[in-house]
Amino acid sequence: MNIVLGITGGIAAYKAPDLVRRLREEFVTGTSLQAVSGRPIRSNLWDKEAEAAMSHIELARWADIVLIAPATAEVMARIVSGGAPDLLTTICLATEAPIALAPAMNHVMWSNPATQANRAVLEERGIHILGPGIGSQACGEEGAGRMLEPDAIAATVFSLTGGKGEGLLEGRKVVVTAGPTREAIDPVRYITNRSSGKMGYALASAAAAQGAQVILISGPVNLAEPAGVEVVKVESAEEMFTATHDAVDDADIFVAAAAVADYRPAEVVEQKIKKCEEVMTLQLARCPDILASVAALERAPFTVGFAAETENVIDYARGKLMKKKLDMIVANRVGRDCGFDRDDNAATVLWAGGEQSYPTSSKTDLARQLIELTAKHFYASRGSETQPRLTIIANKD
Ligand code: C5P
Repeated sequence: MNIVLGITGGIAAYKAPDLVRRLREEFVTGTSLQAVSGRPIRSNLWDKEAEAAMSHIELARWADIVLIAPATAEVMARIVSGGAPDLLTTICLATEAPIALAPAMNHVMWSNPATQANRAVLEERGIHILGPGIGSQACGEEGAGRMLEPDAIAATVFSLTGGKGEGLLEGRKVVVTAGPTREAIDPVRYITNRSSGKMGYALASAAAAQGAQVILISGPVNLAEPAGVEVVKVESAEEMFTATHDAVDDADIFVAAAAVADYRPAEVVEQKIKKCEEVMTLQLARCPDILASVAALERAPFTVGFAAETENVIDYARGKLMKKKLDMIVANRVGRDCGFDRDDNAATVLWAGGEQSYPTSSKTDLARQLIELTAKHFYASRGSETQPRLTIIANKD
């Protein structure tokens, strides 16, 4: 995998080393490790020595993808104009590879009509715009304009490029739930949890990379929509339940990675609750269990659950595997420094006849391994419906 990584002059450039690490991690198993490791850094179109080694035109041809992260408002404008005053924009003009930009800038610059018009033109031309995320900014303000996290960018790059799997899930439909849910208390308050949605998004990407048709049912998260995946956005457990059952009818595999609220306020108050009592009691009612309800369907898909636990991880997970009648469960420890809202994860997968542990790796990498294992068990459970086979024709002459 050959990646031209363009780093433009935004404050988010400090995340570039982490992004490079993620990209290398992603492709380290690929055949072209050499291509992404220890590549030279170039910044000048007129560097005679570097041009002699690999000219800008050769570099543009060499790339499987051109990724600009962070991408400033300025570089977006330059690409729109079709000018080529520097090496990076020259490569963008000269390449036939996909181009992806991860914008990072002050939120007012991002929402400026000029930048938005440039974004629209770039998207129309088939350039992938990753993010930006919403949140606190380097300038101390809040808004849209944060560069996406390196793990999310690496995952998208992986799904956009030839770094695809072997088509293990070609022709299969996979439904994934991800992220937290929000349960309204009154018009301005809600109950939620620390789930970032990263694991579910990585699983959806990994399933799409294996050729599956993927529907991702997502609670409120701050992540880019994975390429090649249909995203259905929901807020509450009830909405996630309905969206899942709408999608899961003809699905082959269901992966429940969402951290669905177990309880929601028993009644939603129409007006904002005023503070008066010293102690306030909130009555909670159970939310529907989406995973158990899918596993109980007459024509249930191959069903994979998650068990995020703070203690007795394996015992609790095996209990859930049985009780919810799942095909597989992914058990992982969550707490202050593991599991939720992080870019890496470790897990043990359990099924009726065995288990397999995966050491800590990036969520993207873990997702790829989990999807491969899921595909293997899915085909085994279906018996006669075998996995697509590879035909090798050896020509003797
Ligand atoms: O029972 P527990 O909540 O620990 O089970 C976790 C698993 O069940 C996860 O796969 C989660 O996505 C799913 N779940 C669900 N609906 C709920 C609660 C959990 O789908 N209401």
